[in-house]
Amino acid sequence: MILNELKKKAQDGSLRIGVVGLGYVGLPLAVQFAAKGISVTGIDITQGKVDRINAGDNYILDVDSKVLAECVKKGTLKATSDYSVIRDLDAISICVPTPLRKTGDPDISFILAARDEILKYAHPGLLIVLESTTYPGTTDELMVPAFEEKGLKVGKDVFIAFSPERVDPGNEKYGTHNTPKVIGGSTPACMEVAQAVYGLVIEHIVPVTSTQAAEMVKLLENTFRSINIGLVNELAIMCKILGVDVWEVIRAASTKPFGFMPFYPGPGLGGHCIPIDPIYLSWKLKTLKYRARFIELADDINTKMPDYVTERVAEALNERGKAVKGKKILVMGVAYKRDIDDVRESPSLDIIELFIKRGASVEYYDPFIAEVETANHRHKSVPFTPAQLKTYDAAVICTDHRVVDYDMLADNVPLVFDARNATAKLGQRDNIVKL
Ligand SMILES: NC(=O)c1ccc[n+]([C@@H]2O[C@H](COP(=O)([O-])OP(=O)(O)OC[C@H]3O[C@@H](n4cnc5c(N)ncnc54)[C@H](O)[C@@H]3O)[C@@H](O)[C@H]2O)c1
Repeated sequence: MILNELKKKAQDGSLRIGVVGLGYVGLPLAVQFAAKGISVTGIDITQGKVDRINAGDNYILDVDSKVLAECVKKGTLKATSDYSVIRDLDAISICVPTPLRKTGDPDISFILAARDEILKYAHPGLLIVLESTTYPGTTDELMVPAFEEKGLKVGKDVFIAFSPERVDPGNEKYGTHNTPKVIGGSTPACMEVAQAVYGLVIEHIVPVTSTQAAEMVKLLENTFRSINIGLVNELAIMCKILGVDVWEVIRAASTKPFGFMPFYPGPGLGGHCIPIDPIYLSWKLKTLKYRARFIELADDINTKMPDYVTERVAEALNERGKAVKGKKILVMGVAYKRDIDDVRESPSLDIIELFIKRGASVEYYDPFIAEVETANHRHKSVPFTPAQLKTYDAAVICTDHRVVDYDMLADNVPLVFDARNATAKLGQRDNIVKL
């Protein structure tokens, strides 16, 4: 009966949805539902974000500011920090952070905090979908028992599912609505409800038979990337030893029309997903006495790339009769990938600190990020002008933003170390050294 009522609400669009955590994942999802005319309440503990949304003010690059403002004006999107609104909601998606602790272990405290607040106001007829990336078993071990202890039978009174978010920041082709969505329900009824709700805004749903399988899908996707990037980073190191251009090798290998997928080396992994998610999986396996060797090896190679890049720049300066100490170095790009404004886990931040430790004076330029904090310092993006560029001994391209004029960079800085192949179009120049 409860199941049918919920499905009916989903069908006629009278459903009221809540999104917990209005960040890179939660806000695009909230706007997606709200733009369809569905009533959405975003819940976030950061009052600044709540206030901005209620003022129709967007802060996520992937969200269309006009659409967000229209939703707020029409009343389909509002935000609050008060969880008691859940009393009036039918479905909640949880999109809170899942970082690592300083010890390198998963920090699921945000999920637990959100769960405990939801529990206070949970009621029969509520769908709860966890979207935060986490280790296999989280939904069934930490979510389901908590609701059952409160007397809410899962699959009968409340419905619980896991559905990993796959957002690719900066991707102009695939957004929330047209990226197929994997869902695993805790019971078949949970799956049915979750499918009906997400089906309102997502073109293609991919059902799997359990929440664990859905959790594992996300970890496979991101572990696949981490390992292949680790492989290609090591390939770059091997190519340097052999005197071969790694970029040329990858370009030529990519012409194979089957059985090969290009990955590109770089200064290290960044973002909230690829460097972190595989560690959730290896941690879980460690508790079961199994060592995830591929994950550990890739993590080892990827996390050492900032040291490798710094060393290569030092070597290139040395070849020009210069020491790092006392030199002026420009880090080009602090976003963890091109054309976005996110610096989380960005290897550029480590590279800045590594050069400072070696006695260099370091500044950065990033058209998307005006200010940044590294482990021990605060920095402001410098102007990108020929006069300014002439003041540096070396520039290190860590992020290859499309709007940047690399020609101007190479014309004005005596040494450009390119960790992204951003200068490919400039051809061979004596002052350009590639990863
Ligand atoms: N960013 C990505 O590209 C991406 C892609 C796929 C999956 N994910 C996963 O999605 C999850 C969210 O990531 P994100 O990038 O959106 O994080 P984010 O930091 O951008 O946003 C998280 C939001 O949750 C809020 N929050 C924290 N604790 C809360 C609580 N107890 N109650 C309510 N709000 C709370 C924060 O204030 C913040 O606004 C993570 O598990 C991440 O691994 C992220």
